[in-house]
Amino acid sequence: MKITVVGAGNVGATTAQRIVDRELANECVLVDIVEGLPQGKALDMWESTPVEGSDCLITGSNTYDATADSDLVVITAGLARRPGMSRDDLLAKNVQIVKSVTEEVVKYSPNTMIIVVSNPLDAMVYTAYKTSGLPTERVFGMAGILDTARYRSFIALELGVSTKDIQALVLGGHGDTMVPLPRITTVGGIPLPELVSQERIDAIVERTRKGGGEIVGLLKTGSAYYATSAAVLEMVESVVRDKKRILPCAAYLNGEYGYNDMYMGVPVMIGRNGVEKVYEVELDADEKAALDNSAKHVRELIGKVNL
Ligand code: NAI
Ligand code: 2OP
Repeated sequence: MKITVVGAGNVGATTAQRIVDRELANECVLVDIVEGLPQGKALDMWESTPVEGSDCLITGSNTYDATADSDLVVITAGLARRPGMSRDDLLAKNVQIVKSVTEEVVKYSPNTMIIVVSNPLDAMVYTAYKTSGLPTERVFGMAGILDTARYRSFIALELGVSTKDIQALVLGGHGDTMVPLPRITTVGGIPLPELVSQERIDAIVERTRKGGGEIVGLLKTGSAYYATSAAVLEMVESVVRDKKRILPCAAYLNGEYGYNDMYMGVPVMIGRNGVEKVYEVELDADEKAALDNSAKHVRELIGKVNL
């Protein structure tokens, strides 16, 4: 297994580090446009392997020849949010970056699988899909796992219980219109609405929707990356180990939920072949209206992707 991570910034570097530490590949290549950055970070990570006990060879590069024959590529290249910026503000610049990165990636690894992380997420996955010419099941995006992890962690804080016992799902686009689903959230098997008042649930949903902005507001110079890379790793591990995890990911929709030719967050099965199944959850009228609103916003963004 050879994995390439494009973008050696906060998300890319922590993703590569987690891949190396967990030995999810024999070889990992970190790529960035900044000279010395991927080489320096990769060498530092390689020098950690005797201590960590990992046999994953990690190298850094500014060119894509080193990435040839990658089985999986994680794209994190692009601008990150600063205070006052929405994910959508990143669109014009990041379309160009994701497009050029994808062209280089498929030139050297024509049969690879791509996980996109760059924002605005749903539009960037669409960009990578259209540019790559790869089948839809081999191009997908990470956002829902992060959004759901935030939601789960806030519920655990509210109840003073283990995060492990919160099962939940956040659907929709990666933005303020995302759709957490309290109705089907459980805590150790107990429905959330039996344990938490509607008022507190509403506050937790709102904090989840603004979760990325909360971190940006605190960091001031960038956006979240620890939880982000942890979320990416769930997808990477499910591919590498063919785990068939059911995870909320930005997947290509071809009629599911009534949407066509777009990417958006829905529950999918992830295995060695990428997105192996898209699940359609039955939604009540309010949930469907919220998802329609999110899909409308994602469509507007995708409409601005001018390839
Ligand atoms: P960062 O600024 O720390 O790193 C970005 C890296 O991309 C930089 O090192 C930069 O040199 C590199 N880069 C820029 N253009 C490139 C190109 N053409 N080729 C190769 N590398 C290039 O940003 P960070 O925090 O790592 O975030 C990366 C992206 O991930 C951002 O777009 C951010 O908004 C997004 N993100 C997405 C999340 C999600 O849930 N999908 C969560 C958190 C961040
Ligand atoms: C996040 O949700 C900014 O998309 C990034 O943290």
